[in-house]
Amino acid sequence: EHSNYLVYHGLLLPRAVHSQDSLQYAENFQVQDEDIFVVTYPKSGTTWMQEIIPLILSGGDLTPVHTIPNWDRVPWLEETRTSLVIDKMRCPRVFVTHLPYHLMPRSFFSSKAKVIYVTRNPKDVAVSSFYFHKMASFLDDPGLFDKFLNKFLSGQVLFGKWTDHVKCWRNLDLGDRILYITYEEMLQDLKGALVRFSRFLNRELTLEALEKVAEHCSFNNMKNNTMSNYSLVPEDIMDSSKSPFLRRGVSGDWKNHFSPEQEAKFSAVIKEEVKGTSFKFPWD
Ligand code: PPS
Repeated sequence: EHSNYLVYHGLLLPRAVHSQDSLQYAENFQVQDEDIFVVTYPKSGTTWMQEIIPLILSGGDLTPVHTIPNWDRVPWLEETRTSLVIDKMRCPRVFVTHLPYHLMPRSFFSSKAKVIYVTRNPKDVAVSSFYFHKMASFLDDPGLFDKFLNKFLSGQVLFGKWTDHVKCWRNLDLGDRILYITYEEMLQDLKGALVRFSRFLNRELTLEALEKVAEHCSFNNMKNNTMSNYSLVPEDIMDSSKSPFLRRGVSGDWKNHFSPEQEAKFSAVIKEEVKGTSFKFPWD
């Protein structure tokens, strides 16, 4: 069972990039006050943020995104790469992570490290994840979409249930250490999102830099950046002819995939699971 995955506190994680050692490393990681963590449930805008945050920190200088692959530029805290690249990272260090709140490094909780939490419409997350499972050979084949949706709703997918993830990252004691944004807000007004990020990180951009970063971080430009589009990964690991990693980059693609019955069930389950919590559901 689950040979592609290891189970960590009940969550399925792909063995291709996670190990007991890497998870232990994350648990014991020494967080610095200047560290920045971008937290996402998978397929919610991680890669986009791996492009955006380094460019805000560089003041619009494109060198980091033209010279360093995204997985080393802003590594996943819980993955095996982090311990290999950590010594090369400059302050402030930026990490992405899909970890739930309670599995963050112990030293995180007493640090001043900042967090940006990105949420995406779970219906689009499910569609994006479905195609990712088709193209990535280190994940189980998703089977038919209907079957995959059931797995998604029951949490038998990477990093468990979407609702558990979004709920555990709400209502925390982090105060102004955390900024919440949605993928859809970023799509609708990328420059507005960049301004929010840069103020949050105390790195305000000049108008010229803002334009440049927004331009560079458009879906089409990122799709053409070999350091960010996963084309450096061998085809037997990620097969872009099955589905490119930067696939469509839109909101509402779920409408092309969900039947009315699937939509009704999916919405009912998700809304029930976030009911009565502080998570406000901003989508239809
Ligand atoms: S992962 O595997 O968790 O790192 O995936 P993640 O990067 O979180 O999510 C991948 C989806 O994000 C889309 N994406 C973008 N959308 C709009 N603009 C930009 N610049 C951008 N970069 C990445 C990517 O296309 C995936 O969504 P889908 O719906 O599959 O296209």
